[in-house]
Amino acid sequence: MHDVLQDLLPHLEEVQKHMHVALASDEPKVAGLISDLGTFHGKMLRPALVLMFAEAVGNVSAIHYRISAALELIHTATLIHDDLIDDANTRRGQPTAHVRFNNTTAILLGDYFYTHAFNLVADLMNPGVTKRLTATTNVICKGELHQQSVARDVKLSEAEYNQIIYGKTAVLTELAGELGAVEGSAEQRRAAAAYGKAAGMAFQVVDDCLDFSGDPQKVGKTLSTDIERGRLTLPIIRLLENAGAKRAAYELQLQTVTTPEQVAAVRALVIDSGAVDAALATARAYVAEAQRQLVAFPDGLARQRLWDLAEFIVARDF
Ligand code: IPE
Ligand code: IPE
Ligand code: MG
Ligand code: MG
Repeated sequence: MHDVLQDLLPHLEEVQKHMHVALASDEPKVAGLISDLGTFHGKMLRPALVLMFAEAVGNVSAIHYRISAALELIHTATLIHDDLIDDANTRRGQPTAHVRFNNTTAILLGDYFYTHAFNLVADLMNPGVTKRLTATTNVICKGELHQQSVARDVKLSEAEYNQIIYGKTAVLTELAGELGAVEGSAEQRRAAAAYGKAAGMAFQVVDDCLDFSGDPQKVGKTLSTDIERGRLTLPIIRLLENAGAKRAAYELQLQTVTTPEQVAAVRALVIDSGAVDAALATARAYVAEAQRQLVAFPDGLARQRLWDLAEFIVARDF
């Protein structure tokens, strides 16, 4: 685990406990499924955002653990469904839920995670927070539907791509920032949300780059699925906008890519053209935007960690 997240380990373990308690079932077969899933934890980035902003405006308390657990459950539900949709075999270095069990179980497990997230937050008896969570989850679903509807559309603009990645990823990190800073001033809540949004945009752009240039062993999940699924992510947008006379040929190649050899050819083309590096430069601009928000918080360790977390997002190779 990266140093920035290592510091938070005791807090993150508490969040994991909340998740396990939430998912516990008195039905032995369901309890067995959850226990088979075992330690299915990722980087826990969304809880990290909640906890870091809680520390930046005061202290971590029970409400932050509950909110963190809910956001991580929603995130995990999206991954379980996403891997089924993408037909990906590996996640977090382990077999994906639909591979481990079967498709039906994976769909139902995702639903089980979503609904437990809503329960956890509803128990806070704070309708404002509950509404923010339900509205955010709705935007995530809209983002995924939007992405699906533009598959293989080689005319996809950067503005539309940004709208999609805001929906599928940055809206949740935006909420993590906002709710982490829930006990701060109005300006701090705004700045935390803006940091979360910019960090989430950077995170998804980097994820889209790793789909081309990452090492599947390190990243711990199946890569190159975006090319196969016809997802036009920022590296592809950068390739096409700089392609000049070759654009039409590249567009055709992208629309017809199916075999592993064709996927490998697109991968090499995107990397060799410098399009991944160009996309990473955009991610770095989002990171700088996130870091600019930190003036709203008192100087100290919590603020420094948020600065480092933003750096980690763009430097990561896992
Ligand atoms: C993966 O998110 C899905 C994206 C939004 C790119 P993470 O990389 O945060 O996944 P885990 O939780 O660490 O496995
Ligand atoms: C997933 O985006 C985002 C959500 C699940 C909402 P990706 O499809 O890029 O995620 P990975 O690469 O499979 O983790
Ligand atoms: Mg995927
Ligand atoms: Mg991806």
